[in-house]
Amino acid sequence: MKKEMTTQDWLDLSERFEPGCANWQAPVVWDHGRGAEIWDVEGKHYFDWTSGVLVTNVGHAHPHLAEAISGQAGRLLNTFDFPTPQRLTLAQKIIEAMPPHLDKVIFMTTGAEAMDASLRIARRYTQKFEIVAFWGGFHGRSYGPMSVTGLAKIKRHFGPMVPGTILAPYPYCYRCPFEKAYPECDIFCLTFLDKVVETESSGYLGGVIVEPYQGTSGFVFPPPGYMRRLEEWAKKRGLVFILDEVQSSYGRTGKMWALEHENLKPDVLCLGKGIGSGAPIAAVVSTTEIFSCLSTGEMSSTMGGNPLSCAGALAVLEIMAEERLVEKAASNGEYLKNHLLRLMKKFSFIGDVRGMGLVYGIEFVKDRTTKEPAADLAREVVLKCVANGLMCGKLGIYGNVMRVAPPLVITKEQIDKSVAILESVLSTF
Ligand SMILES: Cc1ncc(COP(=O)(O)O)c(C=O)c1O
Repeated sequence: MKKEMTTQDWLDLSERFEPGCANWQAPVVWDHGRGAEIWDVEGKHYFDWTSGVLVTNVGHAHPHLAEAISGQAGRLLNTFDFPTPQRLTLAQKIIEAMPPHLDKVIFMTTGAEAMDASLRIARRYTQKFEIVAFWGGFHGRSYGPMSVTGLAKIKRHFGPMVPGTILAPYPYCYRCPFEKAYPECDIFCLTFLDKVVETESSGYLGGVIVEPYQGTSGFVFPPPGYMRRLEEWAKKRGLVFILDEVQSSYGRTGKMWALEHENLKPDVLCLGKGIGSGAPIAAVVSTTEIFSCLSTGEMSSTMGGNPLSCAGALAVLEIMAEERLVEKAASNGEYLKNHLLRLMKKFSFIGDVRGMGLVYGIEFVKDRTTKEPAADLAREVVLKCVANGLMCGKLGIYGNVMRVAPPLVITKEQIDKSVAILESVLSTF
């Protein structure tokens, strides 16, 4: 009889055949999921606080999404740049859901590909090569996006980067580099931005690239008003304002697009992750005027806009509307946030809880006064949570932030049960 493969058997295969350069995760081999729950290859059950990596917003194995993808797989998989009804309908639906000034969209496969395209568009449109990006920002791992990423650990020994990036401080208020406090600071980091540009720019500044909140850096949310003022700053200088919503879109923050929180009007908007909720697709949205800087054949992608992913992304939009997932993310998110704030009061090694909708970071510290990051503790908490049936991970500039980002279909009952696991784990430290 053939031996059943255990988790350890699969992990041994990983060690033998994979290079080991992916992100650290607790030692679990996923088998299948349903909604906000997951089962591993040994049949163990977990509540999911990862959504993959903020991807599966409509939940794992949603029957409508599965049906759309499998139906399309039996019809047509790839047409390259020949249009298909799936791609065109998706383009129409996405543009209809956008702020009115954004009227054109091109599909890509991954977030990094979309970000790379946005950088090329900004350069071509402005004929300038410099771009303001932010400390702690993350935009992907290919060379363009990596070059505008503000995390040394992502870039280490991969240099030289693509020239032209001007990095400025992002408002990580919990660890303000200027040791100021909001709102008394009046968002001093924006005033400082002028100094950075005066010092760094050689006169060819063309754009600004920014995340509405920084995901990879540990779910760092800017204070209210920051994004609006940054956009005004960019527009006053005639810069292309690129908003990276690869992670923050599709209801994650309790709005369909994070830009809605401050009524932003980006020149270029990048989507990824949740757009396909697991179907590999990303998008760059902009205006007819900006896209007109590209001629025929200057931007396309072999897999971008393929009918399989587009069929999936269309189903995602339908599911989100039918199940009112944006509203659910907002209300269940508040519910989850209150639980997390309660835990912060109870456990002194939680230095900060921040987020909105269904995306939160729990920042672990050794001491609330010194704020010394507690990466080891975060790792132990994650390992124990996973062992007890809560799928989660950690990230952040210092590796000390627990990621709380369940699929948007999570119910209040599932929130209660998953928070109870976290609370009992925290009580052991
Ligand atoms: C804000 C942001 N931009 C871009 C990317 C890159 O996306 P991908 O991994 O699909 O290339 C990510 C991925 O984590 C992200 O969080």
